Amino acid sequence: GHVVVLAGGLSYEREVSLRSGRRVADALRALDVPVELRDADATLLDALARDRPDAVFPVLHGTAGEDGSVRGVLELLELPYIGARPDACRVAWDKPAAKAVVRRAGVATPRSVALPKEIFYDLGAAAVLDRIVSRLGLPLFVKPTRGGSALGASVVREAAELSAAMVGCFAYGDAALIEQYISGTEVAVSVIERPSGPVALPAVEIVAPHGLYDYTARYDAGDTAFVTPARLSSAAAEAATAAAVTAHRALGLRDLSRTDLIVDASGEVHFLEVNVAPGMTETSLLPRAVAAAGLDLGTVCRDLLVRRLD
Ligand code: DAL
Ligand code: MG
Repeated sequence: GHVVVLAGGLSYEREVSLRSGRRVADALRALDVPVELRDADATLLDALARDRPDAVFPVLHGTAGEDGSVRGVLELLELPYIGARPDACRVAWDKPAAKAVVRRAGVATPRSVALPKEIFYDLGAAAVLDRIVSRLGLPLFVKPTRGGSALGASVVREAAELSAAMVGCFAYGDAALIEQYISGTEVAVSVIERPSGPVALPAVEIVAPHGLYDYTARYDAGDTAFVTPARLSSAAAEAATAAAVTAHRALGLRDLSRTDLIVDASGEVHFLEVNVAPGMTETSLLPRAVAAAGLDLGTVCRDLLVRRLD
């Protein structure tokens, strides 16, 4: 038997996914796990039905990967796979929906408005934006409601910048999430399931150049400084860890996730989003957290596979 690592696909994060997939495949091969690295293209369903791998490790970012649709194909084929189920992915992938679930579970999240593209243009951009700015204040953070790797995302410091931010956002998605920008320490907390339940790895602090962790800052090695464990008080670090585990549980995720948070000056933790297929590239956050915990990425991935096949 063998394991299929699924990467690539057709989302805007295809290139990132290919890098993530190679990293996971290499880490598993280093432990002598037989791995086939496969693109999620139109031949996927036939190939999986024919080859029937023992398990599939989806490392697909963005649409189709994180919205659960490819995992729906795996369900259809009755193939075991790593990560959250399609229904849980669908909610986690939709940032406004995920924020609502996590807020109900007791974690703060920045105030926000979600605005579909058609409504934005139908109502008249200027009037809508004025109302949003007076309701939420400035600065704001604008991003696609469903998206990743900061594509289409920007910080808006002045009302006059909002309109361009919206247009930039709609290039990557059909709805925008306009969120209060909370300043503080940006951290990512990865959660891995152990036999005892979900366990949070050390928080990784992100110190992006010019304060914006954009696409280049994410994937060009050396652009962003990471501090692990994050420079937080022990109370704030515990709160961040607890928030990530709460998000993982409340959204019904499985095996692994990464929750992105802001810890403000008072130590309060604000949920931004959760990733059901966290980046696994050389510059990504989950692999850093794994290393900081003294673990090996291949071993962590293999343990998840072994447990799924038990
Ligand atoms: N969306 C990218 C891959 C991440 O969250 O790491
Ligand atoms: Mg993300």
